[in-house]
Amino acid sequence: MQQSQGIYVVGAGGHGKVVISTLQETGQPIAGVLDDNPGLQGQSLMGIPVVGPSSLLARHAGTRAILAIGDNTIRRNISSQYPSVEWITLIHPRAYVHPSVKLGRGTVVIAGAIIHVDSRIGAHVILNTGATVDHDCRIGDHVHIAPGAHLAGNVSIGNGAFIGIGVSVIPGVTIGRQAIIGAGASVVRDIPANVTALGVPARPTP
Ligand SMILES: CC(C)(COP(=O)(O)OP(=O)(O)OC[C@H]1O[C@@H](n2cnc3c(N)ncnc32)[C@H](O)[C@@H]1OP(=O)(O)O)[C@@H](O)C(=O)NCCC(=O)NCCS
Repeated sequence: MQQSQGIYVVGAGGHGKVVISTLQETGQPIAGVLDDNPGLQGQSLMGIPVVGPSSLLARHAGTRAILAIGDNTIRRNISSQYPSVEWITLIHPRAYVHPSVKLGRGTVVIAGAIIHVDSRIGAHVILNTGATVDHDCRIGDHVHIAPGAHLAGNVSIGNGAFIGIGVSVIPGVTIGRQAIIGAGASVVRDIPANVTALGVPARPTP
């Protein structure tokens, strides 16, 4: 792999397409796509060649890249495997991030997402299409907030949690690390770590 000024997109799936389109909207150059599935290598994604596996990230210190994989555990594993990569933070031009918000490295904010005053977002988080995070929220590392999910103010989400499409979370609730909140749930009480919670109101599954 040549040392490149462009950004490598890691992940040639559906979220890879969303990240490529977001990079294109910001006008940043894309160096290529990396994917560990040998069947995808040599193919292209939205006209961008899949040049090889993620291990190519180790070739040059300071390579710029972004993880475009929806699975929180895979993002965590790859990000810890390649500490010398410069993981870029990406914000779609039609997302809104209040200037007081702190975003961790590798985090991506997709079109239509909103992050409001004094919220803190960890590293390698996905704020997906149209998701909203209101004031004073605390979001850990490697969290995925799926399209159209809405967090009220003062919500805390632990590392590695997944918030499904269309979820609503009322103010002040804490969702534990690695929890999974199913699509369409309404979270009105704290949710412990490592559980799957479903429904309205959201309850942990047995
Ligand atoms: C919660 C979730 C992870 C569970 O997935 P799973 O373990 O494969 O669950 P299954 O599809 O086998 O369903 C198991 C049971 O839970 C129910 N169920 C699944 N998801 C549910 C949800 N979101 N709300 C209520 N019930 C749900 C199913 O109807 C099924 O019930 P049954 O046993 O009575 O038939 C998944 O359904 C979900 O909601 N994923 C969110 C996906 C998403 O938002 N993706 C965004 C990508 S950008």
